[in-house]
Amino acid sequence: MAVEQTFIIIKPEAVERRLVGEILGRFERKGLEIKGLRVTKISEDLAKEHYAHHENKPFFSQLIEAITRGPVVLAVLEGNDSVSQVRTLVGATDPVKAAPGTIRGDLAVRLPYNMVHAADSPANALIEIERFFGSCLSGMPKGS
Ligand code: CMP
Repeated sequence: MAVEQTFIIIKPEAVERRLVGEILGRFERKGLEIKGLRVTKISEDLAKEHYAHHENKPFFSQLIEAITRGPVVLAVLEGNDSVSQVRTLVGATDPVKAAPGTIRGDLAVRLPYNMVHAADSPANALIEIERFFGSCLSGMPKGS
């Protein structure tokens, strides 16, 4: 099991509903360490770059609107197998299908408003950390 970093976005609907502490608390209680944290508003250009792989999906414009409509909280989380641990805690993409006990299963009801984005692989986590935190976190050794 390797110590690795992952990347999450706590989406505008969660910030609006004052669920940031609840969501970050779940990751912290699991034992993951917060290595980066930032409140920002994602520009349309950055949202389109981040979700470029969904460009041809029918829900693309709805997705861009949903992620840019208000402030988000960006976080880098570190721990053993953090990418898959975080995705387990977050739950299935569709909140209707997400298991009770997961963030989406407990706190969300419909797409695209599923509360949290979580990187889907260690390689994408690195790309997303660089995209959203840039030089302020890249290159920081794990465990430091
Ligand atoms: P996320 O994990 O951020 O990755 C892509 C996002 O697209 C996903 O969460 C949802 O917010 C959104 N999404 C995925 N599938 C659908 C869908 N069928 N309809 C609307 N939005 C979707």
